[in-house]
Amino acid sequence: EKGEYRHFMQKEIHEQVRSLTDTLAGRVDFDDGIIHLPQLNLTPELARRIKRICITACGTAAHAGMVGKYLIERLARIPVEVDIASEFRYRDPIVDEDTVVLAISQSGETADTLAAMDEGRRKGATLWAIVNVIGSQAMRIADGYIAMQAGPEIGVASTKAFTAPLVDLYMLAILLGDLRGVLSQRDRKRLVADLRLIPDLVSRCLDREPEVLQVARELRYIRNILYLGRGINMPIAYEGALKLKEISYIHAEAYPAGEMKHGPIALIDRDMPVLAIAPKDPWYEKMISQIEQAKARGGSVIAVATEGDDRLPELCDHIFWVPETPWLLSPVITVIPLQLFAYHIAALRGLDVDQPRNLAKSVTVE
Ligand code: F6R
Repeated sequence: EKGEYRHFMQKEIHEQVRSLTDTLAGRVDFDDGIIHLPQLNLTPELARRIKRICITACGTAAHAGMVGKYLIERLARIPVEVDIASEFRYRDPIVDEDTVVLAISQSGETADTLAAMDEGRRKGATLWAIVNVIGSQAMRIADGYIAMQAGPEIGVASTKAFTAPLVDLYMLAILLGDLRGVLSQRDRKRLVADLRLIPDLVSRCLDREPEVLQVARELRYIRNILYLGRGINMPIAYEGALKLKEISYIHAEAYPAGEMKHGPIALIDRDMPVLAIAPKDPWYEKMISQIEQAKARGGSVIAVATEGDDRLPELCDHIFWVPETPWLLSPVITVIPLQLFAYHIAALRGLDVDQPRNLAKSVTVE
């Protein structure tokens, strides 16, 4: 039931404090700085043998996979490709016994994702799945899995089943890095300790919901918007834009910010607001210069910024504040105001937030 909330989507956004607490429970040994993912069946021998990981998924799950590429390449130094499942399955992908095909799926029943797993199986890959629905087909056909602890997700727009796999992928990257001898014990312990901060950081983002609602009130009639991000937060631009378009029917585009000068900057004028994801991560200075360029062309800018930042408020028209977060975990935090923003715009426009037009919760046909 929805309880005090108007829509399941809003309830599920708020449930992320609990779902992420559950995601850590039993998997993270904070005393020794060790990650346990027993259902993955990851032996030290397999960890050392992997030459490539192909992440395959659709929609929001694919955006989680894009963050996963940053995490696994950074912490375990294994090459990772991210492929939309409907492309991967028909591309005759280069996959062999030393490849892991990693599917990410809330439902575990998405037709294209299952077909991509079948393709991996035919070619001899190890199959892993990160899935939310226990007993789903993706879980059954995988050699190993991580069960997301999101709990049942009812709203069609995925929210808590986006942040749960982000944390799962972070834990997986640490585990792989450790088993392959890439991570020092000190780094591993620090990375594991950072996980403890997550539920509280999410809760602090949610406390700022009234500020996000205020911006949504001002911007509820926009027709277009451009989401920009870089580095590990680039996929959050895609995810924020998808949330807005699927429930509010506003045209939202996402770009890696560095691509602006290669074409899309031509779009910017007073009628094309820019939403810039610019927390204090290693790409912060690059984002600032991108925002300056958008402002110089008359665009209004909304930025996701780290609390205490004194440059962005002077530059931007609106700010979504997020607490300071270790940068490898920042996508878990920066996405929260974007979920709330999409939700409130759609709710203010009187739309059917939980059942948007033309969409189904689980896409079991191709
Ligand atoms: C967007 C959304 C979809 C799903 C996609 C994959 O909010 O929910 O883009 O992420 O259809 O679904 P699963 O994760 O069930 O494979």
